[in-house]
Amino acid sequence: MPQLNGSTRVADRDSAAHGLSSLPGVREAFPALSEWIHGEPLVYLDSAATALKPRGVADAVARVYLHGAGAVDRSAHTLGARATTLVDRVRTDLAELLCASVDEIILTRGTTDGLNLVAMGWARSRLHAGDEVLVTALEHHANLLPWRRACEEAGARLVTVPTRDGDIHADDVARLLTPRTKLVALTHVSNVTGAELPVAKIAALAHAVGAAVVVDGAQGAAVSDADVRALGADFYAMSGHKVYGPSSTGALFASRARQAEMTPVTLGGGIALRVSADSATLRDGPQRFESGSPNVEGAAGLSAALAFLQTIGKHARIAHARRLATYAAEELARIPGVRVVGAPAQRTGIVSFVLEGVHAHDVATWLDSRGVAVRAGRVCAHPALDALGEREIVRASFGVYNDGQCVRALCAAVQSVKKTLGAS
Ligand code: ALA
Repeated sequence: MPQLNGSTRVADRDSAAHGLSSLPGVREAFPALSEWIHGEPLVYLDSAATALKPRGVADAVARVYLHGAGAVDRSAHTLGARATTLVDRVRTDLAELLCASVDEIILTRGTTDGLNLVAMGWARSRLHAGDEVLVTALEHHANLLPWRRACEEAGARLVTVPTRDGDIHADDVARLLTPRTKLVALTHVSNVTGAELPVAKIAALAHAVGAAVVVDGAQGAAVSDADVRALGADFYAMSGHKVYGPSSTGALFASRARQAEMTPVTLGGGIALRVSADSATLRDGPQRFESGSPNVEGAAGLSAALAFLQTIGKHARIAHARRLATYAAEELARIPGVRVVGAPAQRTGIVSFVLEGVHAHDVATWLDSRGVAVRAGRVCAHPALDALGEREIVRASFGVYNDGQCVRALCAAVQSVKKTLGAS
């Protein structure tokens, strides 16, 4: 096994030739990459589940705990002002990531939280009997179950856009759109196949019949361009922990027009301008949907993560994720007995596969014994796996700290599973 850490890492001219060398200065920023797992250097290929954190994120969170921060918009002292500044800043940073305005960014606990806010705070009052909601066959449960319930409650119909080869095609969406379609819910990047969906094309089709578009950006925000204007999203939900920030942070982009159609789902402190014995006047803007004390340390950590990503640059980050996923799919497909799941037109950040004759969890456990961390199973996307005809998959996913050598370490470990567990 080659050395994979820091300055001891072997030179990799082959990777450089593929444009798959490490992004400069990135690996060194992630202390966790110095971990050894079962005596092997960690090869972290599970960023789609959660990304490792750069040191700056840990430092920013620690600063809040060690130096203090009061309650946002509440404490009448300097530490309170400090907390308010941190939360204001993360809203600005998220607006920049999503190419949105600050007043279109609702702070959430993550993608699931954001999608449920749209389902309960918007769809519940907008859907009526006979309406239709389109979802794709590739959706994660977080972008399926809220719509299923919203449809059941309204007497609306949930319509599924089929997948072809683990991808979603705009012409399949066009066939299923009708004047009854009120919402199209789709993922930006599939957490199963890594397909980068033609969101902008689909959004234009949806808007032409008057439907709103909600995008699950759980994967896309890290590996693709989450420019909500270019995508044509009415709503875009993302998670902080997948863009190298703290857990239980995230954002929901909601356009001003859609915000005006929303009702807050949780009520409490921080969202009202005035409350009397029998009435309440709520704030305008995103804070209307953010009752309770904001997550100050999460805000500080997420701002640090987004600042770190800016040092890499959006185009470099996106190109790197595409190259790695494509390269991994090609290299895995060369191994006899390996079947790569799906063949999307544009794969990014993720490649899933099956090793014939070996259960996915056995593959993952073996890879872990070689220091290679992947996810295995049904990845919270059961209908997607059913549509693809797979029971369980092994999923490798890539972050800014991975490179071609990580892909080759994965392939070498898969070869050793085959040899040891006797797969055909
Ligand atoms: N939704 C995350 C995944 O696909 C957790 O792994």
